[in-house]
Amino acid sequence: MLNLNMIGYTDFLMIGGITAIALYFWTSSKSKQQPTMVDLKKLKVLPSNIEENGSANAVSEKGLIEKMKASGKTIVIFFGSQTGTGEEFAQRLAKNCRLYGLKALVVDPEEIDLEELARLNEIPNAIAVFIVATYGEGDPTDNAQEMFDYLQQGEWDLKGLKYGVFGLGNKTYEHYNEIGKYFDKRLEELNGSRLIDLGLGDDDANIEEDFVTWMDKFWPVVCDFYGISASEQDISMRQYKLMSLDDVATEKIFKGEVYRLNSYVKQKPPYDSKNPFMAPISVKYNLFKGTDRKCLHIELDITDSRLRYEAGDHVAIYPANDPQTVNRIGQLLDVDLDQTFSLINIDEDASKKHPFPCPTTFRTALTYYLDITSLPTTQLIKELAQYATDESERKNLQLMASASEEGKAFYNTFIRDEHTDLVSLLEKMCSLKPPIDHVMELLPRLQARYYSISSSPKVHPNRIHVTCTVVEYETKDGRVCKGVTTNWLLNKPVGDDLKPRVPIFVRKSQFRLPFKFQTSILMIGPGTGLAPFRGFLQERDYYKKEGRMVGKSILYYGCRRKAEDYLYQEELEQYETNGTLTKLNVAFSRDQSEKVYVTHLLKNDAGMVWSILKEGGHVYVCGDAKNMARDVHDILVDICDKEGGMGRTQAVQYVKDLGQKSRYVLDVWS
Ligand SMILES: Cc1cc2nc3c(=O)[nH]c(=O)nc-3n(C[C@H](O)[C@H](O)[C@H](O)COP(=O)(O)OP(=O)(O)OC[C@H]3O[C@@H](n4cnc5c(N)ncnc54)[C@H](O)[C@@H]3O)c2cc1C
Ligand SMILES: NC(=O)c1ccc[n+]([C@@H]2O[C@H](COP(=O)([O-])OP(=O)(O)OC[C@H]3O[C@@H](n4cnc5c(N)ncnc54)[C@H](OP(=O)(O)O)[C@@H]3O)[C@@H](O)[C@H]2O)c1
Ligand SMILES: Cc1cc2nc3c(=O)[nH]c(=O)nc-3n(C[C@H](O)[C@H](O)[C@H](O)COP(=O)(O)O)c2cc1C
Ligand SMILES: *[C@@H]1O[C@H](CO)[C@@H](O)[C@H](O)[C@H]1NC(C)=O
Ligand SMILES: *[C@@H]1O[C@H](CO)[C@@H](O)[C@H](O)[C@H]1NC(C)=O
Ligand SMILES: *[C@@H]1O[C@H](CO)[C@@H](O)[C@H](O)[C@H]1NC(C)=O
Ligand SMILES: *[C@@H]1O[C@H](CO)[C@@H](O)[C@H](O)[C@H]1NC(C)=O
Repeated sequence: MLNLNMIGYTDFLMIGGITAIALYFWTSSKSKQQPTMVDLKKLKVLPSNIEENGSANAVSEKGLIEKMKASGKTIVIFFGSQTGTGEEFAQRLAKNCRLYGLKALVVDPEEIDLEELARLNEIPNAIAVFIVATYGEGDPTDNAQEMFDYLQQGEWDLKGLKYGVFGLGNKTYEHYNEIGKYFDKRLEELNGSRLIDLGLGDDDANIEEDFVTWMDKFWPVVCDFYGISASEQDISMRQYKLMSLDDVATEKIFKGEVYRLNSYVKQKPPYDSKNPFMAPISVKYNLFKGTDRKCLHIELDITDSRLRYEAGDHVAIYPANDPQTVNRIGQLLDVDLDQTFSLINIDEDASKKHPFPCPTTFRTALTYYLDITSLPTTQLIKELAQYATDESERKNLQLMASASEEGKAFYNTFIRDEHTDLVSLLEKMCSLKPPIDHVMELLPRLQARYYSISSSPKVHPNRIHVTCTVVEYETKDGRVCKGVTTNWLLNKPVGDDLKPRVPIFVRKSQFRLPFKFQTSILMIGPGTGLAPFRGFLQERDYYKKEGRMVGKSILYYGCRRKAEDYLYQEELEQYETNGTLTKLNVAFSRDQSEKVYVTHLLKNDAGMVWSILKEGGHVYVCGDAKNMARDVHDILVDICDKEGGMGRTQAVQYVKDLGQKSRYVLDVWS
């Protein structure tokens, strides 16, 4: 019995020459370990592809229809995903298809010729599934933008196309699941036929459960359609197979690049999410004093990057995980972290060949590519449970992954309340020793973090300023948890060397100063919500110095204590003195026994707020989405109602209209 995991890279190439040889490798399965055949000749495609083209996922040559025909696939699953949830759902649905003996292809719509959508009905019994998230003002994700435009603009006759849509959204947003709803409606308008009812996932409640519920309805319909029995076979399937590699030339191994091999040393503009710019940190200091909390003022040097930004844009930062946590996982899983490997999609037609850039080392994957600190999902626990050799531990894991009331309650106490991350899960469940490749397949990708840029390009064309609070908190059992990105930044040295640089890109936002300089603005931003307003003030100050007439700028800022966490105090006070800031209002929440928030100050100034609105001013809100932004919204409605004398219903509509006219703009996060 040959185990592929143990075959060296050279051996692999040697055997690869002999086409008739098939190798066995292990897939995991709940009950028994079933060996599966792999054709080595096909496997060989990977390393040679990497040599020719250094990108993490080589784009396939064959078209979608051709691919489906060649492989006998009838189900195609498109995903529109920004942070990976939709993509994970798509992969999971495809995996489940195999359990039913059906073949499905997962497709990133960005990677296909969209004309092929209208040709899908060439494939007999084809089903197209769309798993699409909604963003912003009811917008599609970046990767689904073109497909969205295509559906919107074209008058395509999709007659015969069977489809089903699952939308991902969050009920707290006004445009709840608009994209999912649009796809479902539009495909019908284009003569497609809805096979499965629209499913909507709400991230604010339990999107995981919504998806599982939708799949429960999906299977009977699909099985009926294909005339197969609706019972899932009890085997767990792997999507990627592990290849341990030796002797790969160093320059061919990914070292943390998000997409293109060696892109961090050989930098080439234009820079974007797949090709981030390595920005040196020019300035870094702590803005707080007399407290253990820290808030960093960081200046990223973008000279020569050709990166452009506007006040109000976001900068995205790709972080790295804490080395000690990475080492601990290596210890707990008994692996040599410096081993080079590749994870290869078992489905050769999949557009995604690897879950993250490969070949790489376990250390690099755990440091740069995988989210190892978020709480494990029920799906992860469900798949890992099989590896617990102790029966009671396995039962407990299976229970907390189950959808029963008891299971959910158990998950909530054991994972959520006790803040059991991957490391503590492995520590608490001593018999749980999953193979590292399966863990890597299941963990979500480490995501870039966004920061509201706290400078103006008019004043700092070659610098991007960031203002970020260092996240650190204690769990109930006294462990200290640290935010990945903010602590990575905290520990990063200042300077121009290559190593300490920060991979960044700029994301355009809708958070913009009014077109006319004379328009008055009301800025509401407690805590780090101040960040974009510092950029706004720099910009307005710049125009004032140019001799332009600049409208009123009124700021509502709040922090805990004047002596500790008052961000940019001196600057703000000077802006008020020199008139760039018409009025500076600061709420110190903890300097007296009663809490005072920006919302209290705003309420007291109802008359002034109304006069600003009446004269056509703009309102900006930045910072905490959960409580503050909601409270501010309610206060605005109240003010329009009382000061504007328009009545409640009309006031709600008035504020809504302000939003639609971009006169009431939010930049909030939770
Ligand atoms: C559009 C946008 C703009 C943003 N702008 C800014 C900005 O200008 N400045 C800024 O500082 N941040 C900003 N953020 C937030 C920022 O992106 C990061 O989320 C933040 O810095 C934390 O990142 P991290 O990697 O350090 O923490 P992570 O490793 O991501 O950890 C954060 C997570 O830890 C958990 N957590 C945090 N505190 C606690 C607690 N007390 N108890 C239990 N769990 C807890 C939460 O689950 C939280 O999601 C913005 C976010 C968005 C989406
Ligand atoms: N989910 C939440 O509820 C929430 C709220 C704030 C920040 N955060 C997160 O915590 C981290 C640190 O944030 P930060 O440093 O920017 O903020 P911060 O320093 O924690 O808060 C800034 C100020 O806002 C006050 N505040 C709290 N609730 C408010 C509300 N409903 N309306 C108006 N003001 C309110 C705080 O008062 P007190 O603290 O004294 O009550 C404090 O004075 C960030 O990651 C941020 O996203 C989360
Ligand atoms: C910045 C941001 C904006 C969002 N805007 C919306 C929205 O307008 N409507 C909605 O229903 N959901 C919205 N959501 C929720 C996402 O659609 C939801 O979290 C989804 O699960 C993300 O899927 P993904 O991980 O595949 O990108 C938003 C989420 C974020 C982070
Ligand atoms: C490699 O990728 C680039 C884009 O990054 C593309 O232009 C080029 O054609 C690719 N080369 C091969 C051989 O596929
Ligand atoms: C849908 O089908 C009808 C009837 O066959 C046809 O008239 C119509 O043009 C089709 N719609 C589109 C958008 O092609
Ligand atoms: C969206 O969903 C998440 C759950 O993942 C939740 O924490 C958050 O409060 C929701 N709302 C917003 C505005 O992000
Ligand atoms: C106003 O004060 C700010 C903050 O100190 C300063 O940067 C700016 O140059 C001043 N503007 C004028 C017009 O004096």
